[in-house]
Amino acid sequence: MNRQFEKILVTAALPYANGKIHLGHLAGAYLPADLYVRYQRLIKRDVLFICGSDEHGVPITITAEQEKTTPQAVVDRYHELNKKAFEQFGMSFDNYSRTSLPLHHETAKEFFLKLFNAGILKEKKEKQLYDNKADMFLPDRYVEGTCPVCSNPDARGDQCEKCGTFLNPIELKNPRSKITGETPSVKETTHLYFPLGDYQKKLEEYISAADKRDGWKENVLQYCRSWFKEGLQDRAVTRDLQWGVKVPLSSFDRKVLYVWFDAVLGYISSTKEISNLKKKPDMWKEYWLNPSTKYVAFIGKDNVVFHCIVFPAMLMAWNEQGGDQYILPENVPANEFLNFEGQKFSKSRGWGIDVDEFLAEFPADDLRYTLTMNLPESRDADFYWKDFQARVNNELADIFGNFVNRTVTFVHKNFDGKVPEQNKLRAEDEQIIFLAKRCAVNAGEFFEKYKFRDATLEVMNLTRAANKYFNDNEPWKTIKSDPERCSTTLNVCLHLVNWLAILFEPVLPFTSEKIWKLLFHTNVPNDAGWVSVGKFLLQSGNPINQPEILFNKIEDETINKFISQLPNQQNPALKPMTFKPTVSIEDFQKLDFRIAEVLQAEKVSKSEKLLKLKVKIGSDERQVIAGIALHYKPEDLVGKKIVVIANLAPAKLMGQESRGMLLAASDEEGHLAVLIPEKIVLDGGIVK
Ligand code: 2FM
Ligand code: ZN
Repeated sequence: MNRQFEKILVTAALPYANGKIHLGHLAGAYLPADLYVRYQRLIKRDVLFICGSDEHGVPITITAEQEKTTPQAVVDRYHELNKKAFEQFGMSFDNYSRTSLPLHHETAKEFFLKLFNAGILKEKKEKQLYDNKADMFLPDRYVEGTCPVCSNPDARGDQCEKCGTFLNPIELKNPRSKITGETPSVKETTHLYFPLGDYQKKLEEYISAADKRDGWKENVLQYCRSWFKEGLQDRAVTRDLQWGVKVPLSSFDRKVLYVWFDAVLGYISSTKEISNLKKKPDMWKEYWLNPSTKYVAFIGKDNVVFHCIVFPAMLMAWNEQGGDQYILPENVPANEFLNFEGQKFSKSRGWGIDVDEFLAEFPADDLRYTLTMNLPESRDADFYWKDFQARVNNELADIFGNFVNRTVTFVHKNFDGKVPEQNKLRAEDEQIIFLAKRCAVNAGEFFEKYKFRDATLEVMNLTRAANKYFNDNEPWKTIKSDPERCSTTLNVCLHLVNWLAILFEPVLPFTSEKIWKLLFHTNVPNDAGWVSVGKFLLQSGNPINQPEILFNKIEDETINKFISQLPNQQNPALKPMTFKPTVSIEDFQKLDFRIAEVLQAEKVSKSEKLLKLKVKIGSDERQVIAGIALHYKPEDLVGKKIVVIANLAPAKLMGQESRGMLLAASDEEGHLAVLIPEKIVLDGGIVK
């Protein structure tokens, strides 16, 4: 790390208090952040670790409506559940706050007002759907209607899940309010926008400089580059909603700050809260307003734009006004996603496991180790039950647990449970001590570079070497043939146990604590820390406690129980299906499905999703627009026979006329396939 930093501020993305934390969340942001912080504490750095619940946003209000309760009740429940799950998992936050606190609202309003008063925020009028009965503007997710691209009657206001098209709710045909079921009207509303584009150059310079100093991850840089390439656009910072931080302007009553604008400021308000709790109200400034603080923001990849672009731009805008100067993230080590048994975590499909459920069955350290060894540091990774079992049984229990157990048991059996004398060290002793010191250096470098898997591999390799040292020195023989030598071997082994407990502490904090108690009772020496790896802290003759099993092996039966609980993905018949209301055969026969040949295909300009097809249906030639450009290249379709609905009323999409609709199949996994007859049929042929 650059020497100039005196303090380290670490934040982990504030999770929404709208659902429970699952293993994917842990692997994305939280475990890496905790590993980093615990390592920094072990090397005695002044580090502050900040998190809390993100308690605003539309999905929370929707949950409240579904549950017939208030948004506050929803966030109260999930805040407590997630806070507890984090504690059980061993997250060592210095503070876990929440954005519904008045302190947070004040902080966010102050920030907003500074930017507003400086004239940075631009006012824009826009058209939005309004529910007259509920007397409110409808956020995207509160509207449903017919997709203008594929005619799916249940498209959401922000996106059609059937064809994948991103939508503006006013584009929906037959829109209906999800609150009252009424047809909303279009009304003008005013919002304030942050001019992100004005900061693009500064942001590019900032990221490039921070990357040079601290080595940003390639995946994060890639995301940023693609945003910059597209060109940054103005972003609305207000919303027509009741739940959130109220916009502190009389002309904007009934509006709140956009959830992301306030959420990132939650890091600052959480730091203020811990300062107040510690009765040092200005402490937060020593971190946030101190150029000698290194700020590292841990997140999952879905949050990159907000932490690498939006938040830094907001801080730049504040800093431009003079006065207090906030520091910007020195690094944003975002992880990719963790999948579960080969698929995305999905609450609705019951795919995955929540942290509290997991920890009701298995110890936190088992999970921490397995996740660390599978962190999606540079690409998506997977959690598999069988891998979890193998890691716990073959690595934690057989390698680390075994070394600690055989050492401590031997000392109890042959040295009366007291630390044996260290006599003259031999080359093989010096060698393993050297390996331990080198491991501390190498693993330390990996921690500094956010490579937690590599750091842990180093420590596990040292543990393997420790077992080999035990075997090679054959204390069970030397106890009789050369007791002095045996004593030295066991003295070195006990020290190795101590050093491994230090080196493993970031990953296995609960186990390390047990080992310290075993070796030192309650008197852990004050200077114990990363630097004491390789130092002899145990006093010969001091008693140590009885061994205890550190890692219980996991039986096949237990793991199979969890595997069998997974929803059966192979057999969709087991999943309840819902269908649209029944139609009569007469209704069906009104539709004229025909075979058509694609003569020409090209992309519709300015549209990511749409292809313009010229098709031939017997003697008829016509244009059909299809929302399939993300799945098919134009040249893939030319010459193919497809199925179209030939008598659908013509529609205009992105200014292009479409006479008819192509048939395609899609699924929940996002696959999309155009229907193509499996044998030759002439175009114009009837499909029924
Ligand atoms: O993706 C999420 O869970 C967001 N609640 C993360 C917010 S991070 C920060 F802005 F607070
Ligand atoms: Zn659609």
